[in-house]
Amino acid sequence: MSAPTHIPVLLQETIEALAVQPGGRYIDCTLGAGGHAAAILDRSSPGGQLLGIDADPEVIEIAKARLEAYSSSILLVNENFINLEAICIKYDFLPVHGILFDLGLSSLQLNNQGRGFSFQHDAPLDMRLSPSQDVTAADIINTSSEAELAHLIKTYGEEARSHQIARRVVQERPINTSLQLVQAIEQAVGRRRGRLHPATRTFQALRIAVNHELEHLEAALKQAINLLGYEGRLVVISYHSLEDRIVKQLMQQESKDCICPPGVPTCVCGHKACLRLINKRVITPSPTEVQLNPRSRSAKLRAAERLITQDEYYRSAEEHSFSAQLNAEGWRRPALLKKLRVAFAML
Ligand SMILES: C[S@@+](CC[C@H](N)C(=O)[O-])C[C@H]1O[C@@H](n2cnc3c(N)ncnc32)[C@H](O)[C@@H]1O
Repeated sequence: MSAPTHIPVLLQETIEALAVQPGGRYIDCTLGAGGHAAAILDRSSPGGQLLGIDADPEVIEIAKARLEAYSSSILLVNENFINLEAICIKYDFLPVHGILFDLGLSSLQLNNQGRGFSFQHDAPLDMRLSPSQDVTAADIINTSSEAELAHLIKTYGEEARSHQIARRVVQERPINTSLQLVQAIEQAVGRRRGRLHPATRTFQALRIAVNHELEHLEAALKQAINLLGYEGRLVVISYHSLEDRIVKQLMQQESKDCICPPGVPTCVCGHKACLRLINKRVITPSPTEVQLNPRSRSAKLRAAERLITQDEYYRSAEEHSFSAQLNAEGWRRPALLKKLRVAFAML
C-alpha cells in the first residue's frame, strides 16, 4: 500500500461527540490511516494519550508512519477489537474518556489490489483483515453448500436474489478470484442496472462472514461501555444497516432503566441504564462532505455517554485492578478523581 489516501469521515462531528479534552485518554478501535486519531491527539494536547487498534498489520504500519510526530502519546496495537478489554488490561490503559469505532474498511484496503475486498480489482478472494485468520472468502465460496451460501448472502448482504447467486456460484466453482465471483454474479442476475453494482451485496456478505464483523462488533461495544470512565463517551460510525442496527439497539437498550417486554405490568428485569444518548437522532454527513468524499455517503454516527455512580465505579475498578486509574490525570471531574484516590488509598 502506498501513501495514505483515506479521508476521515464525519471528523468534526466525531471530535465533538467524543468531547475530546486536553489530557484525556482515548481509544481508536479502528485506527485505519490514523485520520481520526491525529485529530483526537491534536485536540487532547497537552497530555492526551491514544491507544490505536487495528486488525490489519499493513494498516498499522501506515498509521505508525503517519502518527510519528505523536509517538510519545500513542500506543499502537495490531489486534482485533474483539480483544478490547484484554488489550486495555495488558497495556494498563483504562479507564478512558472516549472510545471510537469507525467501522468497515479504509480506502487503503479497498484500493489495495491484492486482498480481494473490492469487486473492482481482480485479486485472490481473501478478504481477511489479518493474515493470522484461518478462513478466506474463497474457502467459504468453495466449501459452503448452496443453501448455506444463499443464507449468508441474504443475511449479511440483504440481497434479494441470494438464491440465484448461490446457485450460479456453486455451478461455477471453484472460484478463487474476485473477478471470477463478479462474473458468476453477473451471470446469475445480470449486469449493473441501478446505482449499485450487482456484486456489492455479495461482497459485503462475504467480508462480514470472513471477519465475523457483526459478532465482534456487538461483543466489543459491550466491552467498550465497561472501559469508559465517568462521563466517558462511546462514538460509533457505521456504514450499513446491519452494523447500525446493532449499535442503535445496544445504545437504546443500555440507556433504559427497564427493558421488560411491553405489557409487563411491573418491571422484573432490574436493568439499569448505563448510557445516556448524546444525539437522539443519528448524525450523517453533510451534502458537502458527501460531495468531497463519496465514500462517506452511507455513514451514520451514534454517540452515548457512560452513566456510572461512584459505587459502581469503585466496584468495576476493583474488579479490573485498574492501577493506571490511580495515576489518571485530567479527568473530567477532578473532584471525583480526588475522592476516588482517597477511596482507593483506603482499600
Ligand atoms: C474505516 S477504517 C478507519 C479509518 C480511520 N478512522 C481513519 O481516519 O483513517 C476501519 C479500520 O478498522 C479496521 N478494523 C475493522 N474491523 C476491525 C476489528 N474487528 N478489529 C480491529 N480493527 C478492525 C480496518 O482494518 C480498518 O483499518
